[in-house]
Amino acid sequence: MLASRLAGYGLAVATLCTASFSYADSLPNVTILATGGTIAGTGATSTTTVGYSAAKLGVEKLIEAVPEMKTIANVSGEQVFQIASENMTNDHWLKLAKRVNELLKQSSVDGIVITHGTDTIEETAYFLNLVVKSKKPVVIVGAMRPATAISADGPINLYNAVGIAGSKDAQGRGVLVALNDEIQGAREVTKSNTMLASTFRAPDLGSLGYVVRGKPVFYRATARKHTVDTEFDIGKLDQLPEVDVVYGYANAKRTPIDAFVAGGDVGLVHAGTGNGSLATPVKEALKEARAKGVIVVRSSRTGSGITARNGEANDDELDFVAADNLNAQKARILLMLALTKTRDTKDIQRMFEVY
Ligand code: DGL
Repeated sequence: MLASRLAGYGLAVATLCTASFSYADSLPNVTILATGGTIAGTGATSTTTVGYSAAKLGVEKLIEAVPEMKTIANVSGEQVFQIASENMTNDHWLKLAKRVNELLKQSSVDGIVITHGTDTIEETAYFLNLVVKSKKPVVIVGAMRPATAISADGPINLYNAVGIAGSKDAQGRGVLVALNDEIQGAREVTKSNTMLASTFRAPDLGSLGYVVRGKPVFYRATARKHTVDTEFDIGKLDQLPEVDVVYGYANAKRTPIDAFVAGGDVGLVHAGTGNGSLATPVKEALKEARAKGVIVVRSSRTGSGITARNGEANDDELDFVAADNLNAQKARILLMLALTKTRDTKDIQRMFEVY
């Protein structure tokens, strides 16, 4: 079965090798930047949907497997990394963002698709949402089933992402995430399920729209600033400030906070219970961290809702920042970028109310 499926790919490759991609002036030019993940994954059998290997197929194989893309865009591909996205790092983000900005400056590039593991798509998407300096569409896409699986979702997700990236209607909307026929905003999207194709949700506010026949249909737009309207510029940055996340739960200890501070972190995000609540030992440790100059942001582990300033903790007194409705992993990203601009907590709180 697997052999026939891969042969299917082979057939597609053979067909495409002879029928070269014809460049059509009438079509948009979309560049696919591949980074790895399940969309490029392979399993031992066609029913292997867990326990497969991510980041195996190169960008050309992904493109060759979807010949229909050449009817909606002139597609080119670059392999930026080949990793499972749990291994994405700040350094990967800086390299990817710089390449995106470099490509989008070119008049010959109308939009970009980034293929990516689903585990950290929401983080890469939000980071790019804050540092891409173009109104052209940037669409991040992944898959929940490997390329070798029955009903692999990668090919249709990739086709849809290219359709969005080539659409003028997707311009100026910030970075988008597109899987399972839905279009999500980078700021609000999160992976909500370990296995379902419908895993990407925006629990607070819902998706931005759908993809129908490879074309985006939008119903909403994000109200927060992004891309060309942000104050963040990573052009001259070689590294990002060290910021980590500490998780809140019953019986939580101060140990990880002390360890991160000793390790040199300049910012900490606490994923608190409920509305960002702080257990007493944790609050003490965070107060001591603040006194040493570490910037502290209170978020919530709940996955939706606003962590309100001066709600479960007196942020004015503690000189902490409240994360608004950003989850902890996204609050970390905004705090890292904020710390490239300022250490002033009032200014950082403003940023959490704007982005
Ligand atoms: N290892 C995970 C990743 O690369 C697989 C999940 C996926 O890509 O769907 O994010």
